[in-house]
Amino acid sequence: MSKKVFIKTYGCQMNVYDSKRMADVLKPHGYSVSESSDDADLVILNTCHIREKAAEKVYSEIGRLKQIKTAKAAQGNDMYIAVAGCVAQAEGPEMMRRAPTIDMVLGPQTYHRLPDMLKTAGEQRAAGRNSARVLDTEFPTETKFDHLPEESAYSGPAAFLTVQEGCDKFCTFCVVPYTRGAEYSRPIADIVEEAKRLVASGVVEITLLGQNVNAYHGALADGGTANLGDLIHALDQIEGLGRIRYTTSHPRDMDDTLINAHRDVASCMPYLHLPVQSGSNAILDAMNRKHTRESYFDIIDRLRAARPDIALSSDFIVGFPGETDQDFEDTLDLVRRVKYAQAYSFKYSPRPGTPASVIEQQVDESVKSERLARLQALLNEHQLEFNTNSIGREMDILLEREGKLEGQLLGRSPYLQAVHVDVTSHENTLDADADKPYSGFMGKLVRVRITEAGPNSLKGELVGALH
Ligand code: SAH
Ligand code: SF4
Ligand code: F3S
Repeated sequence: MSKKVFIKTYGCQMNVYDSKRMADVLKPHGYSVSESSDDADLVILNTCHIREKAAEKVYSEIGRLKQIKTAKAAQGNDMYIAVAGCVAQAEGPEMMRRAPTIDMVLGPQTYHRLPDMLKTAGEQRAAGRNSARVLDTEFPTETKFDHLPEESAYSGPAAFLTVQEGCDKFCTFCVVPYTRGAEYSRPIADIVEEAKRLVASGVVEITLLGQNVNAYHGALADGGTANLGDLIHALDQIEGLGRIRYTTSHPRDMDDTLINAHRDVASCMPYLHLPVQSGSNAILDAMNRKHTRESYFDIIDRLRAARPDIALSSDFIVGFPGETDQDFEDTLDLVRRVKYAQAYSFKYSPRPGTPASVIEQQVDESVKSERLARLQALLNEHQLEFNTNSIGREMDILLEREGKLEGQLLGRSPYLQAVHVDVTSHENTLDADADKPYSGFMGKLVRVRITEAGPNSLKGELVGALH
């Protein structure tokens, strides 16, 4: 019988990738993906634990789902609620106690066992329970990557591909080493094979994912290991793969092979998300980041020497315990020197079980808010400046979806800027189909002249189609 699964994804891109793979795992068992929880037989919340608000959102969503589940049960219809991802990993048993409506809790490393869990849950429900009690948050020795079906339930021109997972860095603020486990790199041959399958299904751009993607050290067929730079070189050989990106990188693992890939490999995009977190050496030390502001500047210099137009992005945490006004000024100073094209910034959120959460000198909420506002104003200024400098330039844009206006398609620049492209300005409509005359451009790399810039996106006109 055909069934429907609705997957709601929180958190990082790795969760987006995992959600898709969960759908793939369920597909051979008769589940198709639904866009809403209302008609779903199974709802999976793929959760994030990185900041407090992320986990709270999950509990409020569970409350809403409970009503749907109860209403369905009154009509004799079954619905299963599963919680996956990092909150599940961190607080699985506690979640089951706090929200007895949950049927299944599974961690980020066990989703290949979903069909088995569903079977057990079904048996428990058949035995008369309102909710099943299935919990699987192990870190199994077999990996989920070995159990992925070849066929994917998804397509589109830009895809994620997990190459590395877990983290051994233990920054003092962060839950990831606990929720995702130890660092693991997939063998290079498996990645190349998955990339080829993606390209065969129409993918033009692949973003390689890892919690510490540049710590990648995958096994080679001959027994050696490859680093991320080597992997990028290998993927560049795949015909039809136009763009390679990777995220998230740690400053400690930015080696020369990788830096030079930005110079030598045409498909390696001139964009790098390289979180620095703080511009103060004292805070970086307390965070256990294992790099200094000086070593970070050195990496930026080497990157810019290799690829002068590279666009940089970062994450920042303000109000880490013990952060003084001067520490914060050092962060602003670092931002002024680097000038990011884009960045994410957060107030420090104490996470249970992490070393920083028990440091006594926590920073007042009002101070955090004030610092965040100042930092974001500066980052936004630089982002707008970066975007404005694009006006008049021609760039290759990968068109990914339809825009709001007729004849407008939405894509990304090499620097990851969102670009609204007016395709009506060009007579070449490729394989125009009658209903949507410009749909022939969808999924293609095209040449675009940038005409306008805003803080979050650009506008441009089509100059020509590339391929
Ligand atoms: N692996 C990446 C980051 C993963 S988490 C790295 O090493 O940089 C994504 C971002 O969330 C982090 O870069 C950090 O800025 C933020 N973050 C992590 N834990 C946090 C916490 N406890 N409070 C606030 N922000 C946090
Ligand atoms: Fe978290 Fe640090 Fe690991 Fe990034 S490097 S995932 S911030 S512990
Ligand atoms: Fe969140 Fe887990 Fe990703 S905590 S940021 S979903 S690794």
